Amino acid sequence: MKGFRFLLLCAVAYLLLSSVAAVDTLRHNQTLTDGETLVSSGNIFTLGFFTPGNSTYRYVGIWYANMSVQTVIWVANNQNPMNDRSGVLKIAEDGNLVIVNSTGVVWTSNVSNAGNDTSVQMLDTGNLVLSSSSNSQNYLWQSYDHIGNTFLPGMKQGFNLKTGQQWYIQSWESLNDPSPGDYTDKLENPEFPQLIIRKGDEKHYRIGPWNGVRFIYGGIPLTTGKIFSPTMYSDENEVYIVLKTSSESITARTFLNETGVLQQYYWNQQAGQWIDVLSMQQDVCKKYNLCGNNAVCGSTASSTCRCLKGFTPKVPQKWQMQDWSDGCVRQTVIDCEKEYAFMKLTNEVNLPDLLQYSVNNSMNLQDCQAMCLSNCSCSAFSSLQMIGQGSGCALWFGDLVDLRADTDDGVVLYLKLLPSEIDSGGGSNKKRRLVIAVTTSVVLAILVLVPLGWYSRRTARRDLRGGNMFTSQELGHEEELELPMYDLFTIKAITANFASSQKIGEGGFGPVYKAQLETGQEIAIKRLSKNSRQGLNEFKNEASLIAKLQHRNLVRLLGCCIQDEERMLIYEYLPNGSLDSYIFGQHSHLHARHGSLLDWKKRYDIILGIARGLLYLHRDSRLRIIHRDLKASNVLLDNELNPKISDFGMARTFNGEPVEDKTRRVVGTYGYMSPEYAIDGFFSIKSDVFSFGVLLLEIVSGKRNRGFCHPEHELSLLGHAWNLLNEGKELELVDPMTGKEYAKSEVSRCIQVGLLCVQRHPKDRPTMSAALSMLDSENIILPHPKEPGFYTERSLQEFFSANDAPSTCNEMTVTLLEPR
Ligand SMILES: *[C@@H]1O[C@H](CO)[C@@H](O)[C@H](O)[C@H]1NC(C)=O
Ligand SMILES: *[C@@H]1O[C@H](CO)[C@@H](O)[C@H](O)[C@H]1NC(C)=O
Ligand SMILES: *[C@@H]1O[C@H](CO)[C@@H](O)[C@H](O)[C@H]1NC(C)=O
Ligand SMILES: *[C@@H]1O[C@H](CO)[C@@H](O)[C@H](O)[C@H]1NC(C)=O
Ligand SMILES: *[C@@H]1O[C@H](CO)[C@@H](O)[C@H](O)[C@H]1NC(C)=O
Ligand SMILES: *[C@@H]1O[C@H](CO)[C@@H](O)[C@H](O)[C@H]1NC(C)=O
Ligand SMILES: *[C@@H]1O[C@H](CO)[C@@H](O)[C@H](O)[C@H]1NC(C)=O
Ligand SMILES: *[C@@H]1O[C@H](CO)[C@@H](O)[C@H](O)[C@H]1NC(C)=O
Ligand SMILES: *[C@@H]1O[C@H](CO)[C@@H](O)[C@H](O)[C@H]1NC(C)=O
Repeated sequence: MKGFRFLLLCAVAYLLLSSVAAVDTLRHNQTLTDGETLVSSGNIFTLGFFTPGNSTYRYVGIWYANMSVQTVIWVANNQNPMNDRSGVLKIAEDGNLVIVNSTGVVWTSNVSNAGNDTSVQMLDTGNLVLSSSSNSQNYLWQSYDHIGNTFLPGMKQGFNLKTGQQWYIQSWESLNDPSPGDYTDKLENPEFPQLIIRKGDEKHYRIGPWNGVRFIYGGIPLTTGKIFSPTMYSDENEVYIVLKTSSESITARTFLNETGVLQQYYWNQQAGQWIDVLSMQQDVCKKYNLCGNNAVCGSTASSTCRCLKGFTPKVPQKWQMQDWSDGCVRQTVIDCEKEYAFMKLTNEVNLPDLLQYSVNNSMNLQDCQAMCLSNCSCSAFSSLQMIGQGSGCALWFGDLVDLRADTDDGVVLYLKLLPSEIDSGGGSNKKRRLVIAVTTSVVLAILVLVPLGWYSRRTARRDLRGGNMFTSQELGHEEELELPMYDLFTIKAITANFASSQKIGEGGFGPVYKAQLETGQEIAIKRLSKNSRQGLNEFKNEASLIAKLQHRNLVRLLGCCIQDEERMLIYEYLPNGSLDSYIFGQHSHLHARHGSLLDWKKRYDIILGIARGLLYLHRDSRLRIIHRDLKASNVLLDNELNPKISDFGMARTFNGEPVEDKTRRVVGTYGYMSPEYAIDGFFSIKSDVFSFGVLLLEIVSGKRNRGFCHPEHELSLLGHAWNLLNEGKELELVDPMTGKEYAKSEVSRCIQVGLLCVQRHPKDRPTMSAALSMLDSENIILPHPKEPGFYTERSLQEFFSANDAPSTCNEMTVTLLEPR
């Protein structure tokens, strides 16, 4: 009888145990004892009791479920370990999540007034959340607010400016001891955020600052197929950074190890191990301010450190012994009576640490310079791209601290010097050439010893640097193109040797394939056909240009491949294809028409997105760019149907004003080319504005400008739209697929802006920034558009047939030689 009872008890216990083990939520009257676990619903994370490394203590923590190695990402009682297995996790009377042992409370979530109806849930994101059943969306407590040594995608690092709460990463004491270790990684300086890793209070390493677009890393190598991208959020309440992974299917984490090195890993399922994608402090400049003040780390091959121009080692003897700790001082002590000037350092150094500095979001470059000249202790300034706030300015006073060589982040720092200290330019060029000559001969000398693969990659990179298409001076011949290079072998492997099943499209210059990197990231590979009209120049042009562009409305280039005859560009993959298949019907051979997916709101968002992308190209990117081939098939759509401008093969850079140039080769696409460009070969940002106007009217009407026909007249789409507007019937233009739900005033304004953009004379057309504000704001009174360029379809056809253009190819990018 007793035995039977015991068996029954065991069975009940087993049932209870397994029912708890299978769930992700712990409720008020339930407990979790040592050995039991909570598992998130998608089997991603486990909460339970564990013992780290060689320790004998017991802790409650979270680790990845279903993984061959236990990787703990969070520990509750890291400061108060239990020495046996008597611990129990439960919801206490006061509603808090607590760990108790026979002696008492070991750890508590310590929320006041939690209430008596709380429960705790293990989420698939790795977040353990306490909420009351009556309000499960508002977490009373969450483990994400108490980051340990592991930073997961989705966590915040930064601060709440109102409450003073700070989210930061802190290392463990050792692998055997999860108690808080010596190193922390915190976001500092909310108005100009940078990440600082400290050992205790002492600065150990610095990443940043965030210049409004990205972190100025300084010398950290780009990794192939980047897995993480940091994003900064800020408003009046919170400033924080979130790491996003390039694909949700990637399991990745950032980790501050016990010696203060920030490492990024992703999980390789096949290999069953974590792969280290990036260890921050592995270059020569391992340490904060390694070279001392006013000196640059990692800039030359012969020595780790060099003084900034106009500066000299403070203690030359020590400097010669490679003891750089004293840094450098000005050759001539600053004299406020003297006239100073600025030397522009482009792609030379990162931005100095923020010790004595000031930032102003609404100051332009001229004001910034004037400000720095007027203050004797100001030593340098830089302009910033502030998100949504135009340009800004940062000033540094006194010593410039923690400088590292930075060759490819596009950072410009203006250094205050006496005019006599600034070379007239020839000198530094000569020096650079000398360095190049020397390294080249070194390369030649050791060529025999170098593995072939390395060499071919190297030459491929050098090839790309030629850049003779650039009109911009910023892209001189010395420009380094630090773009991840993929080798042909890998590309062949992941595309099954360019199998037709992988092919997703055929662009003007060759086929496009879809493939998956071993990280799981999906990519699009544009393989240029050998006889494509895009020559090496255009290829280099496109690669170098896009590599430097970062905007949510531009496609991201991840890398390229140049080997043998092959030239390929590797882009982020956008599953929804191009805009033309959404707005035009029968012409598309790849997709059925998805027009019905695009209601007015979506179309409007797409128009605004394209406008923002184009504005970025024209004005806000470091290189000012004229796209020259904007059209519906060059606008791709992401998951959420956000537009991204692609195909920069025809793009040109320009260097501020004047923005008009004349070209012998006229390239572009019928129907989108402005008259002055198609006829005279003049292009300017206003020719892009024209193309934008055409595209806008196409999006509204669902009809192509080229090939547009109307039963009652021979006008082009542009002429038709203009007539409708003049008659006050512009809403007739709207694509019936748009549905009936739209704000009439918004549509009218849009059409009117489109028509302003396609006016015959470039000077009448608005700039993109004006066009965008006209689209965006209801309060601006719009001028009435003048007659559009290419008013009738016939004028268009006559023009092109006179140039012997093949009239059958509807949507091909064409190259016409300018009639002379
Ligand atoms: C726990 O509480 C729930 C509802 O609050 C109840 O349905 C369940 O029977 C309780 N379980 C135990 C073992 O008391
Ligand atoms: C655990 O102990 C063994 C033997 O003492 C040692 O080799 C190993 O490195 C230790 N592991 C850790 C994580 O400290
Ligand atoms: C657990 O991992 C194995 C491979 O180790 C995998 O095949 C399986 O699908 C995973 N299960 C879940 C639920 O993720
Ligand atoms: C309960 O845990 C505390 C640590 O919080 C420990 O000092 C105490 O010895 C433990 N009691 C038992 C009976 O293990
Ligand atoms: C709980 O929080 C209060 C302040 O909010 C603090 O004084 C107390 O020490 C905390 N208790 C524990 C066990 O952490
Ligand atoms: C929980 O608290 C509410 C209000 O504080 C009270 O009305 C209710 O009776 C409590 N329920 C239990 C089960 O104690
Ligand atoms: C931290 O990471 C660096 C770089 O991977 C490594 O050299 C170092 O040994 C690590 N420290 C520990 C304690 O594992
Ligand atoms: C920023 O600069 C503008 C223009 O020079 C000036 O009006 C404003 O007061 C400055 N703001 C701060 C906070 O210094
Ligand atoms: C120069 O700027 C520093 C830092 O902002 C400030 O403390 C100092 O007063 C300024 N000096 C003058 C002369 O404006």
